[in-house]
Formats: sequence, structure tokens, C-alpha cells
Amino acid sequence: MAPDVVEPAANPALPGGDARPWSVPPALVVRGVRFDPALFCAPMAGITHAPFRRLVADFGGCGGFFTEMLPARWLLSQQAIPSPAVLRRPHEGPVVYQVLVGDPAHAEPVVRRLLPLEPAGIDLNCACPAPLARLSGAGGTLFSDRERLARIVATVRGAFPGLLSVKIRLGDAGDGWEERLVDRLRLFEDLGVDLITLHPRFAHEKWRGRPRHELYDAATAWTRLPILANGDLQDVRTVEANPSSWTRVAGLMLGRMAAIQPWVFAAWGRPFDPPPALEVWERFCAYVLEDYGPRRGFYRIKDWAPYYAANFLFSHTLSTIGRGARDLDDLLTRARDFLGSDPVRVRTPSLEIEK
Ligand SMILES: Cc1cc2nc3c(=O)[nH]c(=O)nc-3n(C[C@H](O)[C@H](O)[C@H](O)COP(=O)(O)O)c2cc1C
Repeated sequence: MAPDVVEPAANPALPGGDARPWSVPPALVVRGVRFDPALFCAPMAGITHAPFRRLVADFGGCGGFFTEMLPARWLLSQQAIPSPAVLRRPHEGPVVYQVLVGDPAHAEPVVRRLLPLEPAGIDLNCACPAPLARLSGAGGTLFSDRERLARIVATVRGAFPGLLSVKIRLGDAGDGWEERLVDRLRLFEDLGVDLITLHPRFAHEKWRGRPRHELYDAATAWTRLPILANGDLQDVRTVEANPSSWTRVAGLMLGRMAAIQPWVFAAWGRPFDPPPALEVWERFCAYVLEDYGPRRGFYRIKDWAPYYAANFLFSHTLSTIGRGARDLDDLLTRARDFLGSDPVRVRTPSLEIEK
């Protein structure tokens, strides 16, 4: 049975309900928070910490950041605040804090923990298929468990007066997936969620296959809530290749492409010369070392190296340096030799990251 269709005119993200063809999404205002433009940096564990957000914000063009997922148990521990995962600098603009909650008992304490940080919003991870999320009944597992999902969303909503968003996939594949998805969208509406990010792959697919961008039209008709589109967006050509898929989404969220090219937002839809290879790397490393110090910073730099490496024809050179480095000095010296030689760039980096 085809799910009911909500009149698109009711979508608050679309003034007048008109479908808008665009390449650079205009500003989006949700619960008083202005994202301008509605181009978002996705939550990425190990990547979207404060030093990385600072680097992206230096280039400009990103209308809103999501922190990496903050697991409830960790967030409630001593080491969480202050830490570079939650640290925020003014020039980042609005930062939405993403939480990973599986136990309803954690929902309210997690909000209380975040409130002093004055987050632009709180995002509930209902998408992550990784074991860390599965084992705590969070992420995609939470999305499948309607009753627990409702309790957690309602509790977060009751405790937090600001922007509340959820990040979802299509849910579990198989018969009735559309009805289940529509049911969850209605649940989010009923419980007072403000914004949804949809990654249109099923839970089990992880990164396999292609995301079903063509479903955005249907999804935006199934809910009054604004939807951010996420999945395999590389540059403005992804949108322009199929303009009709994107006309009703409220914004675009980039993950791996932002990790690969932290300037991608500044370059979105306009001519932009990539900055010198070594300069970006050195700035990132300096920011990481400032916030994390050398011991933990070493691992954060190693985490990012394979993403940055994807810009270059001989990407394996930098990935191998990242993987094999003995210590921080070794990593920085070898990376400097490679990147200082002005390595040949690829035109469109692959999102398949070699780690
Ligand atoms: C290294 C890495 C870490 C990620 N961590 C998170 C996370 O903490 N929370 C989340 O909701 N999604 C996470 N994701 C998924 C991204 O937010 C995004 O949905 C996914 O990468 C698809 O977008 P893309 O094709 O633009 O990369 C992660 C992805 C990557 C590559």
C-alpha cells in the first residue's frame, strides 16, 4: 500500500511549498537557528572534532556542522567536557551536537550535560550501523525499535527546548519498509522533532550500492519536516546531474567529501582553486596538536590522512605514511616530503577510502 502523501505546501522549509531547483541551497531557518547556506558538514567519528571543524570554517561556505557522534556513556563521563569533540570556536557558526543514545535512562542526563555548551541543536543518531551503536541499542538499532525510539525522542524533546534533529537511513530492507519509514517520520513529527537527515541506504547496506537519491521526492512528501539529503555528494555536479531529485530537500549534507576536501563548501558551485597541498595539511596538524596534544593528536592525524590522500594521484603514498608512521615526527616529516613536492591531483577524488 502506498503511504499517504502530505501536501508539500505544508513543508516549512519550502516557502509556499514550491519546488525549487537550485545548486547552492539557500539559507534554512529551523526553530530560530539559521543555517546559511543549507550546506552541512556531516557527523563523522574521528574526523569532525573541533580542529577539523576549525579548518573547514576557515575556508567558509559551510552553513552548519554536526559533531562526531557522542556516545551517551562517554558524554556522561569526566573526560567528555571539555574535550576537542565538544569544543567549539565562534567562527564555526552553528554546531549541532550529535548523541548516540540507546538507553532511555541516559536521554535526559545527556541533554543536561550538553545544555551548558549552548548547542545550536541536538541530533539523535538513528542511522549508525556500526557495532559500537548496535551493542548499545543505539543508531540504526534504535530506529528499528519503535517503542524505545519514541521514549528516547520524547525525553530528549522534553528536556531540550532547542532544535532537535534525527539522522536516519531507510531502515530495515524487506516488505513494508516504506510503511515503516513513513511511520517513523510521523512519529518524529508527533514528538516534536524539527529536522531530519536522510541517508537513503538501508541499514544493512553500510556503504554498498548507490544511495537512492530519487527517493527524496517521496520522502519529502511523506513528512512536513525539512529533510537534509546525505549520501555520496561529491560536488555540485552530483546535484546538477539529476536536478529533479533535489528540488524538495531543505539542504545538503556532505561527509567523506568534506573530509577529503575541507574547502568543498567554499568551492560548492563556484570556481575555486584548491589550496596548496602542504599548507592545508600543516594547518590541520597544527590545529589538532593544539587541541589534542601530541599523543592523542598523532592518532587523529593518522585518522584523517587517508581522506586527504584521496586528493592525489598517488594517494597510497600518503595513506601508507599515515598507516605506517612510527611516531608523530616520522608522520609529519614523511608527509611534508610528499605534500611539499606538489603531488599530482585527481580531478574527482574517489569516496572509496583506502585505509
Ligand atoms: C569516518 C566516518 C565516520 C562517521 N561517523 C558518523 C557519526 O559519528 N555519526 C553519523 O551519524 N554518521 C557518521 N558517519 C556517516 C556520515 O555522517 C554520512 O552519513 C556518510 O558518510 C554518508 O555521507 P557521504 O557519502 O557524504 O560520506 C560517518 C562516516 C564516516 C566516513
